[in-house]
Amino acid sequence: MNTNTETDLEVKNLHAWFGQFHAVKGISVVYPKQSINAIIGPSGCGKSTFIRCLNRIHEEVPGARSEGEIILKGVNINAPNIDPVSIRRQIGMVFQKPNPFPSLSIFENTIIGLKLQGVRQKAKLMEAAETCLRKAALWDEVKDKLHQQGTSLSGGQQQRLCIARALAVNPSVLLMDEPTSALDPIASAKIEDLMSDLKKEFTVVVVTHNMQQAARIADYTSFYILGEMIEHGLSSEIFTNPKVPQTEDYITGRFG
Ligand SMILES: Nc1ncnc2c1ncn2[C@@H]1O[C@H](COP(=O)(O)OP(=O)(O)OP(=O)(O)O)[C@@H](O)[C@H]1O
Ligand SMILES: [Mg+2]
Repeated sequence: MNTNTETDLEVKNLHAWFGQFHAVKGISVVYPKQSINAIIGPSGCGKSTFIRCLNRIHEEVPGARSEGEIILKGVNINAPNIDPVSIRRQIGMVFQKPNPFPSLSIFENTIIGLKLQGVRQKAKLMEAAETCLRKAALWDEVKDKLHQQGTSLSGGQQQRLCIARALAVNPSVLLMDEPTSALDPIASAKIEDLMSDLKKEFTVVVVTHNMQQAARIADYTSFYILGEMIEHGLSSEIFTNPKVPQTEDYITGRFG
């Protein structure tokens, strides 16, 4: 259990809109360093919108905007003078459906972020690829076929490749939106093990519909309904002794 209270990421009164539609309503939360933080709640309650605000992808949707503070290492990264592209290097994201670049090899998929940053030396790129593929627990499975297309891998391997790609630019926070929902139980278990390793270096925020998964891997869990955070706390408490009746209804399957 993570009891590290040093803050990596703090969200203060975050709101998000799609046009007139108010999708995220005043979320405030602290994510400690080296912790896994799950977000659960019924479909449409704003989980994806919330995490997409954290790395400033939400604002790429036409008509979408957000308000509130997102404080990473003491700096409000939701301020207008902050370049969203630089934030996406510090806060990486992995999506529900593995999305390796189809025309790129396993090697190129892993180091694309570094290349875009201007790193050119082959030896440096090779070293980075090995480091990240090892961190993503994929190296042993791909080390003899680094020049095959990323899309030639299985779904679970592709998802670990996407995790390696996110890690290559050395982020401090990793956002994961239902990262195992398209995977079989064995591939899901691998990603869960991997997340427990990754939290030694990264703060992880993961959206999941799988309660057992949240209870197993997350130090803290937040429960959302209709854009609001209804309850937040240690997973050990949320899943055994929730304080709010709606949380209890949801985790016991009576709601949602
Ligand atoms: N591009 C969009 N334009 C307009 N409304 C949107 C858009 N994307 C999401 N919404 C709305 O915002 C609300 C929150 O959606 P969001 O995708 O964040 O939910 P979610 O909790 O991630 O759901 P799920 O569990 O199904 O993935 C929903 O009412 C949804 O219809
Ligand atoms: Mg979603």
